[in-house]
Amino acid sequence: MKNKKIVLGISGGIAAYKSPELVRLLIKAGAEVQVVMTQAATKFVTETTMQAVSGNPVFVSQWDPRVSNGMAHIELSRNADAILIAPVSADMMAKHSLGLADDLLSTLCLARGTESGGMIVDCPLLMAPAMNLQMWNHPATKRSVERLQRDGVHLLGPASGDQACGEVGMGRMLEPVEIIESLIAFFQKKLLQGKKVLITAGPTFEPIDPVRGITNRSSGKMGFAIARAAIESGAEVHLITGPVALDTPLAHTGKIQRTDVETAEQMLNAVLAAKDYDIFFSVAAVADWKIKSPNLQKIKKNSSNGLSIEFEENADILFTIASRVKNNKPFCVGFAAETENIEEYGKTKLKQKKIPMLIANHGPSTFGSDENQLILIEANGSLKLARSDKLSLAREIIAKVSERLV
Ligand code: CTP
Repeated sequence: MKNKKIVLGISGGIAAYKSPELVRLLIKAGAEVQVVMTQAATKFVTETTMQAVSGNPVFVSQWDPRVSNGMAHIELSRNADAILIAPVSADMMAKHSLGLADDLLSTLCLARGTESGGMIVDCPLLMAPAMNLQMWNHPATKRSVERLQRDGVHLLGPASGDQACGEVGMGRMLEPVEIIESLIAFFQKKLLQGKKVLITAGPTFEPIDPVRGITNRSSGKMGFAIARAAIESGAEVHLITGPVALDTPLAHTGKIQRTDVETAEQMLNAVLAAKDYDIFFSVAAVADWKIKSPNLQKIKKNSSNGLSIEFEENADILFTIASRVKNNKPFCVGFAAETENIEEYGKTKLKQKKIPMLIANHGPSTFGSDENQLILIEANGSLKLARSDKLSLAREIIAKVSERLV
């Protein structure tokens, strides 16, 4: 969002109490925010508040004398990267779907245009609806939604849950953080539009008895970052994850299915059950071994003189999938966390697993961290990706993979 100019429209709804927080998060993400409110919105949150948090004068009236040429509805969007209306009321949606323009915000939406290469092109318009569930389900609102989408307006949400009126159902505005994530996703290149992506993430857990087991130090953050970056680039994602303490990325978009598993065997079965995907990112740190016969009851400390455990090898999930590839589908990407000879071991694994791409790193220095430093290995060479946050690296990996698909 760095240096992005966002016109934030606020229409009349109780969800407007979240608007100052939304502005705060937009500014924190690097955006510049120009607030435009309807008269009704000023009943829920004041212009003074919005001016204070945005650091810019707030516009409500079409006849505002502060715009030098008197044409606020034209001027305000001309250097904007997007107009976001949050909350957008049923009334504002209906109004814009019919092309009505009787106040500054609705007129601005109709006249929206932004400069690009010396020309005026449509300024993107995103709306985050907020209304009572009866209003959301009303056929008139459904017609508005249909018309708005046909006209290229992007709807963010709504979500389902408790409503201000005490009822429960569809119509809640997305949380400000979800709106920002959607907006960030909107600005990413749609490099994987229409693609289906399968991802394994996190560690696996192999039980010794009902209370103990063997696992590893993978946090799942890299796999979850790949999932987020894939959705941002237009893909649909199925994320199969071992035990992690992470929220599902971009869950509110409906573009992600999550399956939680514990053991390597469960992960293998979940992967084998998945059908018809274009790309497989095998990010999970899968246990190579499982306990041959886990105890059905807790092993007591004094039950034996020294404990010995018999192991059995787990199937290699990535190798299993890579061996079934037909016509380059799915495109398989392996990950390897090493402690030494990172590139050399990575190249060997690329060949052993018969995959076209492998991402290698130094495991211990990045486990659980938000940052990573990676080497992208392919048959004809390696590329070092500079140390960065895991989401930025995930976006770089997605970009590289998209080049290989064409
Ligand atoms: N992998 C897998 N199933 C396994 C083991 C590994 O799918 N049973 C996948 C991982 O998800 C990763 C890649 O294989 O994408 C490399 O994993 P890694 O553990 O580094 O490789 P191993 O083949 O297990 O080699 P080693 O443990 O000896 O380094």
